[in-house]
Amino acid sequence: MAKRTINDTVLQAKFDELERKNLEALEGGGAKRVEQQHAKGKLTARERVHLLMDEGSFEELDKFVMHRSKDFGLDKEHYLGDGVVTGYGTVNGRLVYVFSQDFTVFGGSLSETHAEKIVKIMDMAMKNGAPVIGLNDSGGARIQEGVVSLGGYADIFYKNTLASGVIPQLSAIMGPCAGGAVYSPAITDFIFMVENTSFMFVTGPNVVKTVTHENVTAEELGGASTHSTKSGVTHFASANEVECIQGIKQLLSYLPQNCEEVSPRKPFVEGNESRPALNTIIPANPNQPYDIREVVQGVVDDGSFFEVHKNYAENIVVGFARIAGRSIGIVGNQPAVLAGVLDIDASVKAARFVRFCDCFNIPLLVFEDVPGFLPGTDQEWNAIITNGAKLLFAFSEATVPRVTVITRKAYGGAYDVMNSKHIGADLNYAWPTAEIAVMGAKGAAEIIFKKEISEAADPQAKLDEKVAEYTRKFANPYRASHRGYIDEVIYPDQTREKLIRAFKMLENKVDKLPRKKHGNIPL
Ligand code: HXC
Repeated sequence: MAKRTINDTVLQAKFDELERKNLEALEGGGAKRVEQQHAKGKLTARERVHLLMDEGSFEELDKFVMHRSKDFGLDKEHYLGDGVVTGYGTVNGRLVYVFSQDFTVFGGSLSETHAEKIVKIMDMAMKNGAPVIGLNDSGGARIQEGVVSLGGYADIFYKNTLASGVIPQLSAIMGPCAGGAVYSPAITDFIFMVENTSFMFVTGPNVVKTVTHENVTAEELGGASTHSTKSGVTHFASANEVECIQGIKQLLSYLPQNCEEVSPRKPFVEGNESRPALNTIIPANPNQPYDIREVVQGVVDDGSFFEVHKNYAENIVVGFARIAGRSIGIVGNQPAVLAGVLDIDASVKAARFVRFCDCFNIPLLVFEDVPGFLPGTDQEWNAIITNGAKLLFAFSEATVPRVTVITRKAYGGAYDVMNSKHIGADLNYAWPTAEIAVMGAKGAAEIIFKKEISEAADPQAKLDEKVAEYTRKFANPYRASHRGYIDEVIYPDQTREKLIRAFKMLENKVDKLPRKKHGNIPL
């Protein structure tokens, strides 16, 4: 530890004493509490911070802050720092602010002062334009403090909301996160969870059992796998905390520091950008699935695709990648799951991702192969209309560079929604295999030639003939390109080269929405 230059020896002695106590207290009163944390498969608050930050870069703030509570014996129990480690430092050389809750101090529960420490670094992060990372491990509001701790939560929610769209906010759930406490991470941009050691729910298993008579474990109700597959609350589920923190660092590498900046660029030297492997991905049979990730990976810089929400609403794929070293956001229909259809979950997943990219100046690249919206009572009764409109709205209001590649189907309303030229996309390409039409040829022929088919001597032969006619006329990219709705029909192997040039051309794009307070996205 560096020698301090405090002239007053009394003050120095006091300082050293506090520092010793601080270390004992913040690490849970010594080795025993650290051991308890490790025994649960969890790291301590400080270990997490040190794993996250560049070595030696972390500057801790407010480490001698203590709670002011006098009730329920708390006046006799004080821990320096009050259960949260806060400060700033760098991740891969870039400034970030962090708070890390210490479960070994009052269960990481949030007191008035604990909340003030978090709010302080959020204010600093906003003023100085850098991301905030919250490492959450807390029993929620400090019960002994009553409404004061609820007020502390509300202060954080309010700051989260004000900071939204100004600086990236990332949350990692590394222990309990229950009750109203879940709403701070929920407002932030991305949530990470750790398998088996973290959970999030508004009401825990005991309340659930009392109210609905369901028997469910904490893990089933709100563990990482539940929220990464069923609810979509978490964007990432990691096997352990080390993997989780690595994920946070990787995500940060694609993001700018704030809404006034662009993401950092990786060095890139242009070479032969033709990718012949892309020519063989689309199956000969238009109803046969393929994995859109193969297309994404074939187009973007090697190994740069970082998928978000991987196991949720898998019929759409979203994530970050780089093209010629530039950070971009990818949205792609996934023909390998539900034929790539748009449903409620996929629409909401993609809409939120599009809005994030637009907040932070990250250009959008869309791969389209969509047979339409999913039909059925389940979807209609659960408001596919309102939810599908979210994606339409999100693309329509996005002013970042926007490019679409139609690989195969672009049918019906989904054609409009998936970043069509009509809703403001900058460049739209189609592969020769594209089918841009109101619907699939068979469905179309059955409707518009219904009478002719039913009156034919051989209805099946008539249907086949009409399907072939419709396919010839509409199941291709040329009608749309005659109108300029498609800027160019390109071969798959040219795609990467075209996109490198497109995003370079769009680098200085300026586009503004009409003056307004804010839009009213159909929530
Ligand atoms: C004060 C708390 C606490 C809390 C835990 N502790 N939660 N102290 N306020 N909210 C203390 C415990 O008393 C214990 O202290 C230590 O932290 C560890 O807790 P354990 O229960 O021994 O740990 P574990 O078995 O791992 O269980 C963790 C837990 C459980 C599931 C989080 O502690 C729990 O259910 N806590 C209460 C959760 C809760 O109801 N919080 C309020 C939610 S409402 P000692 O001294 O024994 O080590 C809320 C509202 C927010 O948060 C509203 C915002 C709008």
